[in-house]
Amino acid sequence: MNASDLTAGFNRGVRIAGTGSAVPDRVLSNHDLAKMMDTSDEWIQQRTGIRERRICDPEKGEGTLWLSEQAAALALEDAGLTGADVDLVIVATVTMEMTCPSTAARLAGKLGATPAGAFDITAACCGFMYALNLADSLIRVGRANRILIVGCDCMSSIIDYDDRSVSILFGDAAGSAVLEAVDDPTRGSVYQSLQADGRGWPSLYIPREASQIAAGDEDNPIKLGNLRMNGREVYKFAVTRFQRAIKDAFEKTGLEPDEFGAFICHQSNARIIESAVEKLGLPDEKVYVNIDRYGNSSAGSVGLCLDQMRKAGRIDESKPTMLVAFGGGMTWASSVWRH
Ligand code: ACO
Repeated sequence: MNASDLTAGFNRGVRIAGTGSAVPDRVLSNHDLAKMMDTSDEWIQQRTGIRERRICDPEKGEGTLWLSEQAAALALEDAGLTGADVDLVIVATVTMEMTCPSTAARLAGKLGATPAGAFDITAACCGFMYALNLADSLIRVGRANRILIVGCDCMSSIIDYDDRSVSILFGDAAGSAVLEAVDDPTRGSVYQSLQADGRGWPSLYIPREASQIAAGDEDNPIKLGNLRMNGREVYKFAVTRFQRAIKDAFEKTGLEPDEFGAFICHQSNARIIESAVEKLGLPDEKVYVNIDRYGNSSAGSVGLCLDQMRKAGRIDESKPTMLVAFGGGMTWASSVWRH
């Protein structure tokens, strides 16, 4: 199916006007973790591909809002715009500092994006993808002309560093993009999926109270208010769903792996990405991997990759880009983006 068939019914499209990203300066390496808990650089690298991750320093005021602001300001600057030029601000996060007001409302206030609408969405590691697909749709139907999206998680604020099973995976980061309307409907997200299966929630969750602990997870020593994960379940789910989401995008668009200019995958575990590359025949050199340096930054990951690839000139804009993620919920989402 060609791009005009996929976007029939729309009379406008979307372009990425600018991107930005931010990570804290503080590095937490595998060697640092090995001094804090019973683990090793070798174990972590072999199982996950992670060498180090960045974590916020709350004493310096670093956190979700701070990271979001850095990334969003860079995205606006890249687009040659100011906050006043956007109609809507969407922040995807599971680490909002307050549930009211939203991170997006506070961010919009800081950026001078008034009276733009502002709200947060929660789709765990799929957050940036959910924001991207939603913003693309709102612009296509004419409800907005320019939308600032941010995927940001300060995972270190919900990690129990006394536990070795979850803490080694995550880092803090934000990725942002400014999306704007263009006349050509074949630009932007020409195919997208947004999906979830809430029955799998106990595999990855943050209970606030003891009554929320999932059956069978009562003996888990991770403290309340922190992320709990059934690593093996998530791994099984991720390998299957991630590959299915990519395959669906190939089938629905009729595009082959080598017709894409770049693959931007959520960075959860290098082995999960390697398995997709191998099983689906993805061109290795077009699949970006930065998990070695940043770990899994949840909603920050896809936007961070997008910005780093764009700025490094690693996105061939003459071809579509595939973006894909999965995460807590369980959720999964994809987008085939024509630049
Ligand atoms: N260091 C050393 N040993 C460890 C560590 C550690 N950090 N963590 C666990 N182990 C031990 C376990 O205790 C276990 O020991 P045992 O055999 O004596 O019981 C052994 O290592 C194997 O543990 P498993 O949990 O089976 O290890 P596995 O091979 O499954 O790897 C991992 C664990 C890396 C977490 C893997 O399951 C994984 O990547 N899962 C997917 C996680 C993921 O992608 N999460 C993000 C989802 S996205 C989102 O929305 C947040």
